[in-house]
Amino acid sequence: MANTSDTVLVIGACGQLGSELTMELRKMYGDANVVAADISTPKQADLRDSGPFEKVDVLDTNVLAELASKYKFKQIYHLAAVLSATGEKNPKFAWKLNMDGLFNVLDLALEQKVERVYWPSSIAVFGPSTPRQNTPQQTVMDPNTVYGISKQAGERWCEYYFQKYGLDVRSLRYPGLIGYKALPGGGTTDYAVDIYHKAIEGENFECFLSENTYLPMMYMPDALKATLDLMHAPAESIKVRDSYNLSAMSFSPKEIAASIKKHIPEFEITYKPDSRQKIADSWPQSIDDSAAQQDWGWKPAFDLDAMTEDMLVNLKKMKQEQAV
Ligand code: SER
Repeated sequence: MANTSDTVLVIGACGQLGSELTMELRKMYGDANVVAADISTPKQADLRDSGPFEKVDVLDTNVLAELASKYKFKQIYHLAAVLSATGEKNPKFAWKLNMDGLFNVLDLALEQKVERVYWPSSIAVFGPSTPRQNTPQQTVMDPNTVYGISKQAGERWCEYYFQKYGLDVRSLRYPGLIGYKALPGGGTTDYAVDIYHKAIEGENFECFLSENTYLPMMYMPDALKATLDLMHAPAESIKVRDSYNLSAMSFSPKEIAASIKKHIPEFEITYKPDSRQKIADSWPQSIDDSAAQQDWGWKPAFDLDAMTEDMLVNLKKMKQEQAV
């Protein structure tokens, strides 16, 4: 259950997930109780104007400690990371940010007696030898991107901090996340967000993945619900302490284009696979999330066509408002 007087820190609050999650948390805990922190300043007016913002580099332990003694956080959501495609351009930096960032947060949580920590993992923890259909919770994991390796290692460390120090850290293996409010940065699943922007602007879309590349995906409202449901479940029902498999839908570029065409018949897609194809080919096509269903009642609401309808309506509205 949510203790609505908790103070909450969101690190990576300006990102695709962070910007929406911060707003949801502010609704639940009160605007002043949810501190948005990021290395860049918020562009979104609602995020910027609704509550406290702190400029933070998660690699700077002094700043983190100052922040923690100022606000006395009860919960931390640590979302800052370098994603899969960007990580391949500078693997050592991706490793440093993703791993040291996590250690800094886990250690801060222990030192400051933070009650609960959230840290996202990803389908990128799986690799070419993992079963690709209905990928089980526990299976072969041989990630071959630095992002995936850092997420797999991070999962082990989360479980370690739970087993060894009793830190209540919780995690989800997100599929590709799709939302209209903020753009993702540097991921392999980003095409499924860009495609809607192009469609609504009346442009055609050149896809960096081939037409039949199936990947697990999720609409943002479902991702927010999963995250908050997990974080508000009683500790004893959280049986998986590395990271939960999480599933909503799977589709290919050809199928998302067909879903858009139902609303915008003139929309066209072409394919020009680049280095991200290899990453996508190493990831699962669909995910078995029965542990999340059983342990804390996970159930998604959106399939591909429901998401397309909602994305197009809201993107159109947003673009009209921006034009005024
Ligand atoms: N969406 C992420 C990426 O593509 C995976 O977690 O990198």
